[in-house]
Amino acid sequence: MHFDTQEIISIIKKNYRLDVSVKQLPGELDLNYYLETPDGKAFIFKIANQNELKVNLELQNACIRHLLSKNLGLTVSSIVTSLAGEEILELKTDTGNIRLARLLTWVEGRVLASVNPHSTNLLERLGEMCGTLCLSLVDFDHSAAHRFMKWNPSEALWIKPHLINFKGERKGLVDYFSALFETTALPLLPHLRKSINYNDANDYNVLVSHDVENPTVPGVIDFGDLVYTHTVNELAIAIAYAIMGKTDPLEAACHIVTGFNNKFQLTEQELKSLFPLTIARLLISITCSELNRLEHPENSYLQISDEAAWNLLKKLRSIDPALAEASFRNACNRASSINESRFTEWAKENYSKVSTPVLFKSYDWLDLSVGSLDLGNSQDIYDNEKLNERLSALVSQSSSEVSLGKYNEARAIYSTGAFEERSNEGPRWRTIHLGLDFFCERGTSVYAIWEGVIHSLSNNSADRDYGPTLIIEHQVAKDLTFYTLYGHLSEVSLQNKFVGKKIEKGEVIATIGSLSENGGWTPHLHFQVMLDMLGKKGDFPGVCNYEQVTLWRGICPDPWLLLTGKLSPSAKTLTKEDIVSYRRKHLGKNLSVSYKDPIKMVRGAGQYLVDDTGRKYLDTVNNVAHVGHEHPRVVRAGQRQMAVLNTNTRYLHENLVKFVEELLQTMPAHLNVAFVVNSGSEANELALRLAKNYTNQKDIIVSEVGYHGNTNACVEISSYKFDGVGGKGKAPHIHVVPIPDTYRGIYRGNDLLVGKKYADHVSKAIESMQTQSRKPAAFIFESVISCGGQVELPLGFLKQSYEFVRKAGGVCIADEVQTGCGRAGDHFWAFEQHDVVPDIVTIGKPIGNGHPLGVVVTTQEVADAFKNGMEYFNTFGGNPVSCAIGLEVLRVIKEEGLQQNAKVVGDYLKNGLKSLMNDFEIIGDVRGPGLFIGIELVEDRDTKEPATRQAFYFANRMRDKGILMSTDGPFNNVLKIKPPIIFSKQDSDFLLESMTHVLAEDFVKSV
Ligand SMILES: Cc1ncc(COP(=O)(O)O)c(C=O)c1O
Repeated sequence: MHFDTQEIISIIKKNYRLDVSVKQLPGELDLNYYLETPDGKAFIFKIANQNELKVNLELQNACIRHLLSKNLGLTVSSIVTSLAGEEILELKTDTGNIRLARLLTWVEGRVLASVNPHSTNLLERLGEMCGTLCLSLVDFDHSAAHRFMKWNPSEALWIKPHLINFKGERKGLVDYFSALFETTALPLLPHLRKSINYNDANDYNVLVSHDVENPTVPGVIDFGDLVYTHTVNELAIAIAYAIMGKTDPLEAACHIVTGFNNKFQLTEQELKSLFPLTIARLLISITCSELNRLEHPENSYLQISDEAAWNLLKKLRSIDPALAEASFRNACNRASSINESRFTEWAKENYSKVSTPVLFKSYDWLDLSVGSLDLGNSQDIYDNEKLNERLSALVSQSSSEVSLGKYNEARAIYSTGAFEERSNEGPRWRTIHLGLDFFCERGTSVYAIWEGVIHSLSNNSADRDYGPTLIIEHQVAKDLTFYTLYGHLSEVSLQNKFVGKKIEKGEVIATIGSLSENGGWTPHLHFQVMLDMLGKKGDFPGVCNYEQVTLWRGICPDPWLLLTGKLSPSAKTLTKEDIVSYRRKHLGKNLSVSYKDPIKMVRGAGQYLVDDTGRKYLDTVNNVAHVGHEHPRVVRAGQRQMAVLNTNTRYLHENLVKFVEELLQTMPAHLNVAFVVNSGSEANELALRLAKNYTNQKDIIVSEVGYHGNTNACVEISSYKFDGVGGKGKAPHIHVVPIPDTYRGIYRGNDLLVGKKYADHVSKAIESMQTQSRKPAAFIFESVISCGGQVELPLGFLKQSYEFVRKAGGVCIADEVQTGCGRAGDHFWAFEQHDVVPDIVTIGKPIGNGHPLGVVVTTQEVADAFKNGMEYFNTFGGNPVSCAIGLEVLRVIKEEGLQQNAKVVGDYLKNGLKSLMNDFEIIGDVRGPGLFIGIELVEDRDTKEPATRQAFYFANRMRDKGILMSTDGPFNNVLKIKPPIIFSKQDSDFLLESMTHVLAEDFVKSV
């Protein structure tokens, strides 16, 4: 049946006296038309399918009226009555049939399916909207809603005879889940609250606001599935659709549950039934698709969510229903195990009667936290042998009988591949320890803490796993059973044991295993308590990720409570909030902090930084940690020298000579005198003094948006500062030339002419000095302009500028603080790319790999001029520790081939970024040598309008995904990539993959 546009126009005119334009919308069975009046009012005209009963439309209308009268903040279409006062029109078709039709107001929004990303916030809003629906409908009733509806999860039994249509793996899945429904959901149904449900909050019916940064979920469309059923189904249906396609569907479901429960508190029984009812809706969906496929193989609309539903079912199959229930309870801020308070009560009453799992009179606590200074360098904790050496030394230094490893401690030792999980926002590591560790010699006896029976036993022999493991079930009261896990045992401990074997309290059940048999660990017992085995046998997670810590602590309570009646001591560290508030009051007020939600970093490891929760972030920002955060060789060089001597250059020490000798080998021969200082700023400060002394002039030529440091003189030559916020403008002896930016500067394109045009401004600056009888002291430029937005200098620019400056008697300073030491890939120093030799080179950040170290390198002539009788003394500059570190950095760059790595990986990454430009218009430019890359985001490639807001959003979202990125440039729209130069192709792939996800998000695409 079809109504053409003209017919619709005249029906609307006749019945509602409205002039409208008409557009037909897609629909499954009904005909839907979008109508708009000349003054912009929008409507939807719905013509019901042939078989629709009038009473069902009356039900929908009554429900809408009820929702609007409740006024709880839901947005739904309202019904428009015809001139004759009817809510439902009866249209006669040309074949004489009657079709029922309604006019509804159009509600603005996008459907959830089109929104990206489905953030935590959005999922919670979705849950809240569903909760509000339930709250609004508790007192609504209508006889037509008391009907059979195939989409009602509670009715899922109807699919059973159709399951034979599925084959292979799919058959296995549906059989498992339909049995789950029958055994878990069906018996609960009589205990669940009932009401009329909207019953169809799928991702094509849920409306989301147009706000792409903080979207809200105002309401739903399409009330065709209203049914009287169990209220919790409203939530189950929303979950079933919203978690499709998610890496971690349970995590996503929990956010929806949290939102729902905020508006409409779930009962215990509803929480229990939620997982199987969610699955029931999925089973109905795939069964309907299958039936439709058999009936109408040509109609793809009817099969719309099929693949995604199957993929979801596969993922849900690996989730134990008890874990799902615990997660939902936790999402509602309830104890994740219903036994938690009962266990606490029992432990407090009985701890004095409980045996300890190993015997000891004295103990101390180890600090195995992420930032533990006792564990040392990351290399030592990611390597089994070295970790063992460390731990064994710590344990043997202790004067107590046993050293204890803490419960609820975040540990870096777990931030390895073996403990990695993919969350909905990038990788996470299960770093939080859920047991207690007893470090004792191998062979030490292990005792059962209470009587019980062996629940399960297994040798979990993978590297860094539990090794031989025993789990004992203790039914200590009619209403309380808990389990204890004993891990890292010796292999013989499992002999002569069997499931169901009775165990006495205090019985020796095992001995502590050696490293070769216990999963690769320093001998210790891992002792853990579980209130629910979550269907597991012989093994149980001993660590969890930080985001789920309350969930898992609820399932695995503090074992110290069981042994002593008290909770184990918590570490006395400053929280993020403590640090922020102290900094605000007592530290320089203009120190900035990265990210909306600041990060407390406690460990560096190569190209990663690790926060206090053990989350590892791939670092694309810190060019200071040039050869990798806390490179073990560099660390050791500093530590060894510091242990022996640190003093100043008035005494002779060979480190200074060795360091400078090795550094000068990287420089053009002409540059052969060095001053060792403590920072990039200090290097530039000294460079200016050298230049002024040599020329007896004080005028300096600098770049627009250039940055050279934080001292008085450095700020004076930094347009980035004196022209920026809080700046006081340029001093009279400073001459700013336009930034030679070939992408958005005053001259564009990359040929010799452009370089010359920019260099002519240097010439002009000199001329203007000369008209006042002055000459340049210096021309200072970075070899790639960093703070200005990773701007590569055009060909010929430096060469010609140097010629102009030298002709006028000035010296040329190359600031290599950001770009030096092999980062640029093709050359060790970025100025080399421009076929120039500066008179002074300043070096900072990378040369100390995090240690405060800078160097000024110059010519004999310039250095001689500085030797004017005044001593140059620098308390710390050139000290043996700094020199040992600088020397080791240079050697590591050479021996690990890092300059070459910067070239190869830099080119690889840049190619990847350039190909992203094909898909994402927002990327206006990708540039930079080696691993010194800039990605310029623009709202429009022609106008180059800077996409500043998007760049800020982007950096914050990348942080969510576990990647640190920064923005810079005069408009803060350039993403800077300048990672430690050990960055690999694999890191580049992870970066590119994550960027692809964020670039596709609505906020970024909204330019
Ligand atoms: C190009 C350039 N020169 C000099 C400096 C100053 O170095 P420092 O912060 O070590 O004093 C910086 C710092 O960011 C810089 O980027």
